[in-house]
Amino acid sequence: MTSDTLISSGLDGVVAARTRLSQVDGDAGELIIAGFPVGDLAAHATFEETTWLLWHGDLPTGAELESFRADLAAHRELPPATVAVLRECAGARIDPMDALRIALGTVSLVSTEAVAIVALAPAIVAAYARLLEGLTPVAPRADLGHAANYLYMLTGVEPDAERVRALETYLNTVIDHGLNASTFTCRVIISTGSDLVSAIVGAVGALKGPLHGGAPGPALETVFKIGEAARAEGVLRAKIEAGERLMGFGHRVYKVRDPRADVLAAAAERLFTRAGDMRLYALARHVERTALALLDEYKAGRRLKTNVEFYTALLLHGLGLDVPLFTPTFAISRASGWIAHAIEQRAANRLIRPTSEYVGPRGRRWQAHAGIAG
Ligand code: ACO
Repeated sequence: MTSDTLISSGLDGVVAARTRLSQVDGDAGELIIAGFPVGDLAAHATFEETTWLLWHGDLPTGAELESFRADLAAHRELPPATVAVLRECAGARIDPMDALRIALGTVSLVSTEAVAIVALAPAIVAAYARLLEGLTPVAPRADLGHAANYLYMLTGVEPDAERVRALETYLNTVIDHGLNASTFTCRVIISTGSDLVSAIVGAVGALKGPLHGGAPGPALETVFKIGEAARAEGVLRAKIEAGERLMGFGHRVYKVRDPRADVLAAAAERLFTRAGDMRLYALARHVERTALALLDEYKAGRRLKTNVEFYTALLLHGLGLDVPLFTPTFAISRASGWIAHAIEQRAANRLIRPTSEYVGPRGRRWQAHAGIAG
């Protein structure tokens, strides 16, 4: 390696895989999922249909969809060992993302199949949310779809169609997004010949970080902290001047508005208009406008725009989810995308193994240390 070797420490601009799953056009602000514009697919498909689309390349036929739904429903029952682990986690007040990572590892006790991972992820998150509240986990219902069953397992109440549609839209919107950090993690693990559960557990660890999937909670907390429109500018200006990042803004690839933010903003508006707190929705829109103006002022030329996490926070809050469940709910969706990438990676595998440039010392020689026996 020579001194003028090009190093891309964040791998910006490096193309490390060919994929048929999704295309992220950061300049046009477009996201295509298996051929569909995200807005079109997300607002209409069920999560089962989108998952099948990614795993098989085409939407399912009626019979395929029926049998896939049944297959997922048949795998929802949590293994006793998983429930025992979740109880331990709840006793230690472990963060839900960590509990999901720990409990997903126990899936290997019963299966290493994709369908089991996708079916069990929401069951784990819902059971854990209840255990944290001191409540008993709710048994899954095989007659409900994937999204509806998640809401049912969280609350014990069958959700209405409007809420299910809002959750399906969210899950479809974030199911896949090019070679993001957690997806890359998953592909790296699969490329070594490792198994699916290991890859998904690793990906959950990558998704947890605040620079990736951990942003929606802090984004909503900022809106709550602001509380009323008149305070938005002062609070946000102080944050930027203190060198803090505004959560829910900026993206490594999108240099215009993240198209997923539009899909989720529309879904949030529908949900809040029918059954929610329109004051909060209006405040969030005001916070967004103010943040964009300030980012333009302080970070001119950086093109920092709204990302998916800002409206994720609002939508999931509107669905009644607590902030600590936001990132695990993201993981529930992305698990299907990670698995699609695992399938693709396996189909044309090459061990992912980049190189590094050594910048450490040279010429050292081993010497016995004074004071060490001998
Ligand atoms: N608020 C304030 N300043 C920001 C923000 C932000 N949200 N994002 C980037 N910047 C600034 C940086 O401070 C830096 O400024 P400087 O050059 O004056 O030091 C400049 O913009 C470039 O920042 P980078 O870190 O190089 O940009 P990168 O491409 O690595 O950032 C990231 C992408 C991590 C998403 C960043 O925008 C960020 O931290 N956003 C807030 C967290 C967030 O919303 N994460 C969710 C992303 S969406 C997802 O993963 C699902």
